[in-house]
Amino acid sequence: MNHVLETISNRHSVRHYLPTPVEAERLQAVIEAYRLAPNSINGQQTSLVVIQDEQRKAKMMEWAWGQPYIGQAPVFFVICLDYHRIDLAGQAHGIDVQPDNLDALVTGFFDGGLALQNMMIAAESLGLSTVTIGAIRGHIDEIRQELGLPQHVLPLVGLVMGYADPNTLVTPKPRLPQEATVFFETYDETSLVKAVQDFDTEILAYNANRAGQKSTAGWVEKTASFYSKNVNPKFVAQLKNAGFELKE
Ligand SMILES: Cc1cc2nc3c(=O)[nH]c(=O)nc-3n(C[C@H](O)[C@H](O)[C@H](O)COP(=O)(O)O)c2cc1C
Repeated sequence: MNHVLETISNRHSVRHYLPTPVEAERLQAVIEAYRLAPNSINGQQTSLVVIQDEQRKAKMMEWAWGQPYIGQAPVFFVICLDYHRIDLAGQAHGIDVQPDNLDALVTGFFDGGLALQNMMIAAESLGLSTVTIGAIRGHIDEIRQELGLPQHVLPLVGLVMGYADPNTLVTPKPRLPQEATVFFETYDETSLVKAVQDFDTEILAYNANRAGQKSTAGWVEKTASFYSKNVNPKFVAQLKNAGFELKE
């Protein structure tokens, strides 16, 4: 395995941090990894907000189900979809930018995901740890106001970054086997049910033994329950407030 593949296999979410600050050079390297991420048409449909202020982090923590690692770790990033920049620049060229449609929204989400992954891998390669925070999408209005985000700028996801607490180290979380997720040429359900059952047993053992938050729920129970309801019913209204009514 080369270094890139090793970094990918070693990366895992960390939910216990030391208060140790992140050195300016390392922070800058992760920010640069954000900036260099692939993106649609090189339009660079995102912006990054870097939060280190303790009070602001505390607010973000509150708006993300109180997840304590947001307050513990020294850095919290918010990756935002951003059509405000091209809107302003387009006006100077007499071009009316119309990003209020589903395709533009999905494009921004893709760009955000790619930037997020670049940042996580860069951080891991520097000995830093991360955990993604999707929960911020429950409080988009509040976060937009706190960060001063204009219309057509939408917080997509947060990323906690810092040094892992060595007393609560976890091992990488198992994944579904290839038979359940990778298909050559055409989708094939033959091994799906059995592969998922076997994985459920594997992850039950992992959850029971891991450091920090233990859990007794299996993967199917946890995942299916999550998708048995809409976890973010305010999302459509908050998208509208940010200027995304998603016209046909
Ligand atoms: C879009 C997205 C949102 C996530 N939101 C949260 C979150 O709010 N809180 C959290 O603790 N983990 C969150 N995670 C982390 C996932 O739970 C984690 O990546 C997954 O369980 C796989 O574990 P691993 O990262 O250790 O490999 C999120 C991950 C992604 C990609």
